[in-house]
Amino acid sequence: MGKVFNAVYDQFMSQRPYTKYARCYLQACEAKTTDRILEAGCGSGLFLMALNRLGYNPEGLDFDEAMLELAQKRVENKLYHGDIREFCSEEKWDVIFLPLDVLNYFSRSGMKKAFKNLARNLNPHGVIVFDVHTKAHLKKVHGAQSRERLSDAQYIWRSRGRGEYIHYYITCSKQGYHESYKLEQRVHSPREILRAAAYAGFRKKQRCRAWDLGRIDRRTTRQLFVLQKV
Ligand SMILES: C[S@@+](CC[C@H](N)C(=O)[O-])C[C@H]1O[C@@H](n2cnc3c(N)ncnc32)[C@H](O)[C@@H]1O
Repeated sequence: MGKVFNAVYDQFMSQRPYTKYARCYLQACEAKTTDRILEAGCGSGLFLMALNRLGYNPEGLDFDEAMLELAQKRVENKLYHGDIREFCSEEKWDVIFLPLDVLNYFSRSGMKKAFKNLARNLNPHGVIVFDVHTKAHLKKVHGAQSRERLSDAQYIWRSRGRGEYIHYYITCSKQGYHESYKLEQRVHSPREILRAAAYAGFRKKQRCRAWDLGRIDRRTTRQLFVLQKV
């Protein structure tokens, strides 16, 4: 992503209730403070910071260097630069989190690769936890648009649903710098997710609504999965 986009994204996302998101993830997988936790797709470190506040000591991974630079300014946690589909380390983790729709950034084959590689980076019986958009979200954002302003930053986007994909057309500006950006996300069905998970050697532990761990219904726009390595 571009530098302006990253800075604007970070500024807007800083307003979000990350402690609530982190609590939901921790509760869903019953993580202990002694667990080794990796956040894959850690972005600017907002989720890492929330986990720190709750007494955990996670590490972060992202393939966007500009995002990692922002994260470095925010937290002292260990950060890795790499692609979730390929990253390999001698370290192994008990829990890997992919919060705020990281998996929607992958195509169907990309998601399979990501699961397979995440399994490689986990300790035996380790878990991955992620939240993703649902079909209800896709319907909701089709043809939507928004213009938001926050001090010196402006964020304008419109979106379109096409098949399983959401295309976001974004224009952002900060301190007189402008950037246009197109972001594509894929909405994977629960069936596709669980098939890819089984292929990579995971079994489903939990599937529920984000952020209250409630039951999923037709109106649920964001769902959370806990998968365990078998
Ligand atoms: C929506 S942001 C979420 C950031 C962070 N998890 C949070 O909660 O604030 C998605 C992040 O995933 C990262 N990402 C997407 N695909 C990736 C990949 N293949 N490997 C590593 N990072 C990836 C992006 O660079 C971006 O920082």
